[in-house]
Amino acid sequence: MKSIKITFLLACVLIMPRVMAQSPVVMPGNFESVTLGEQDVTFKTTNSYGKITVYSPSIIRIRLDKKPLNADFSYAVVGKPMAVKAQINQTDNEIDIVTDSLKAVIQKKPFSVSFFTIDGKVINQDEQGLTTSWVNDAVTTYKKMQDDEHFVGLGEKTGNLDRKGNGYTNWNSDVYGYNVAADPLYSTIPFYVGIHHGLNYGIFMDNTYQSDFNFGASNNRFSSFGARGGEMNYYFIYHKKLADIIASYTWLTGRMPLPPKWALGYQQNRYSYYPEAEVMRIANTLREKRIPADGITLDIHYMDRYQLFTWNKNRFPDPAKMSAELNKLGLKLTVIVDPGIKVEKGAPAYESGLAKDVYIKYPDGTPYTGQVWPGWCNFTDFTSEKGRAWWRGQVDFFAKSGVSGIWNDMNEISTWGQKMPDNVLFDFDGRKTTHLEAHNVYGLEMVRSSYEGALEHFKERPFILSRSGYAGLQRYSAIWTGDNRAEEDHMLAGVRLMNSLGLSGVSFTGMDIGGFTGNPTTSLYTRWIELGAFVPYYRNHTALNTRAAEPWAFGEDVLDIARSYISLRYQLMPYLYSSFYESTQNGMPVMRSLAINYTFDPKVMDPTYQNQYEFGNGFMVAPFESTAAFGKVYFPQGTWYDLYTGGEQKGAQEVTIPVSVSKLPVYVKGGSIIPMQSLTQSTAELPTDTLAVHVYKGDKPNHFVYYEDDGKSFSYQKGDFYKRTISFDPGKKTITFDKAEGTYQTNFKYIRLVLHGFEQTASVKTSGNNLKLQDGTIAFLGAAANTDPQGSINAPDSSPIKTVTINNTANNIQINY
Ligand code: GLC
Repeated sequence: MKSIKITFLLACVLIMPRVMAQSPVVMPGNFESVTLGEQDVTFKTTNSYGKITVYSPSIIRIRLDKKPLNADFSYAVVGKPMAVKAQINQTDNEIDIVTDSLKAVIQKKPFSVSFFTIDGKVINQDEQGLTTSWVNDAVTTYKKMQDDEHFVGLGEKTGNLDRKGNGYTNWNSDVYGYNVAADPLYSTIPFYVGIHHGLNYGIFMDNTYQSDFNFGASNNRFSSFGARGGEMNYYFIYHKKLADIIASYTWLTGRMPLPPKWALGYQQNRYSYYPEAEVMRIANTLREKRIPADGITLDIHYMDRYQLFTWNKNRFPDPAKMSAELNKLGLKLTVIVDPGIKVEKGAPAYESGLAKDVYIKYPDGTPYTGQVWPGWCNFTDFTSEKGRAWWRGQVDFFAKSGVSGIWNDMNEISTWGQKMPDNVLFDFDGRKTTHLEAHNVYGLEMVRSSYEGALEHFKERPFILSRSGYAGLQRYSAIWTGDNRAEEDHMLAGVRLMNSLGLSGVSFTGMDIGGFTGNPTTSLYTRWIELGAFVPYYRNHTALNTRAAEPWAFGEDVLDIARSYISLRYQLMPYLYSSFYESTQNGMPVMRSLAINYTFDPKVMDPTYQNQYEFGNGFMVAPFESTAAFGKVYFPQGTWYDLYTGGEQKGAQEVTIPVSVSKLPVYVKGGSIIPMQSLTQSTAELPTDTLAVHVYKGDKPNHFVYYEDDGKSFSYQKGDFYKRTISFDPGKKTITFDKAEGTYQTNFKYIRLVLHGFEQTASVKTSGNNLKLQDGTIAFLGAAANTDPQGSINAPDSSPIKTVTINNTANNIQINY
């Protein structure tokens, strides 16, 4: 007995120190002190320091660190806390923060956070027992997985629309010819939306270290987000509607500036068009074959041995002259830039960067050298004002060559080997940090520099494209999904990538139409180029050793189809430009996952329908593999019209439709208002003076903000635009055009109102005049040869419509039908 006691005591002595030692997982612990401000709470707990700030009635920011919080700094966030009426109260156990739209409850013993609606429903809560914790420098916040919770967003991420059951990593990577399930890809947007019980909320974790998100992968308890370093710093956003969450998120991280209209046109790329004669051959062929287009892009072969800010003078003896000739043809020139500056003694850009001390360095002060296209390179530190200023200055090189667009590539940073050392130092705007913290924002700060340089040196609105980025990239740049493959599932994965980017604040997105690596089959190419007409950035691009992929490279039939769809895109330009304008105002993406407008409809999360999306406010696109003979389409609540036949389809139904490669399934939502113009071959060409405004009958009121300006200058910022709200009200049986705002003289003297699905009303009454409605038909395809915005009456599928032409001079136009 005695010996048992001794053994027990001994065991206690041996075990005790281990029990007493701090757990390798550090939790915040209990509150020790707290200061309540007007709209913030600052506190210290046993193991952490924190601050909670109300940014708006719908946005609350949480910061937590093991050490006292650093001075606030972000490359992503531009929104500052609004003055908000927040009630902040505390008891011994909790602190409550109540705004007009939500309530946050902070438990003090131990620390945890929960969010509720004003009427007390749980929106989101820390998983009790886990809350936020640290393992070494890595910090993670664990949220209770709510019953039947779903997740969307997180930017450029592969996989299903619904991210439940999966985990993701953010570490910007060059993933040539990536697999459709690969993760991570090129950019980092640590923002997602959780959906459960008819509620939705957004979480944006602003931390640029490598980050990990878990939506119930390998666990049945929580969703979590965390980073390998830095502080826990997240914004919680709550609105009733997902669209408003996007609006708040883009209020925080900024919105797309209005792009030049030409960037919405068709862009012809390849790796690489050269010499000049080849570029001009492509340009002239586009025109001869009547393929509307607005841009040609030059890939790395335009440079002298891939050296930045040079032209290969054998291939391009007079770039400014060539750009001018392209401009005359209605085509703008975009050129590629990579961040790597070739280390070459005497080379002007390299020497100037060295003299200005702009390159990122090892801790011993020597520039970091890595290999990319030109060989060994140094890299500009875009996280320093000095580096950005130097780059902005270099952009003048492109202005002098008549370049209109800057395509920023390899900015993850990509270097051969893809193992950039951790100990490379970055300025981080005076904060001095390592590659670990700077990596994910390198691309963002590069496009910022290109954008700001272009603002300084280009005379007109620039177009900036990027492969990499971080939250907020939409303020400077469009993004495309990198080196995809010419495969069916890649085309559909690309749709989901862009839809997810759209959910995450990035509206201007594209993918390489036709596929970058490999050769598409004829049918795949056909389907892809059709789809491109319904993608924000319409870029046809392919790799070095692939077959030609211009619209005429796959035979006459494909050429006809490509021409029809590209032409349709140009006829839709007023609709598209207005949709881009809408994005600049509220962050609504042009390409909209059905999760945005039909968030709580479970069918939307069904993988069968997850590729469907809305394009602007009016169209729903159902993309299928080009080999499919049949496809299942989900029509959400409402009335839908087949774009081509005008056939009506009642919503809240799953329908199996026959699919043919010559036609992309596109539907118009009842109530939609879709302005169109006559066909042009470029956005530089003026359409006729009649704007066709298509209205599709629906049972819910709807409105459309029509927006027009010169499409290229900045004078819209001084009020030189033409903006008009067009409304459809089925209750009052009216279609109204509000008074136009702005000083811009519209190009359209007349409005041809085209009514779809309306009863055979004999006349419409506009203010003062009785106008006769006329019978008509319309077809949206095969209209290429026809310059009438109503489309061709000879086309095979034509739907009966009613039309009436109105003078577009009246201040207010009301049509009673
Ligand atoms: C990268 C880009 C690709 C480009 C190529 C050559 O792979 O993603 O679009 O064509 O580099 O510059």
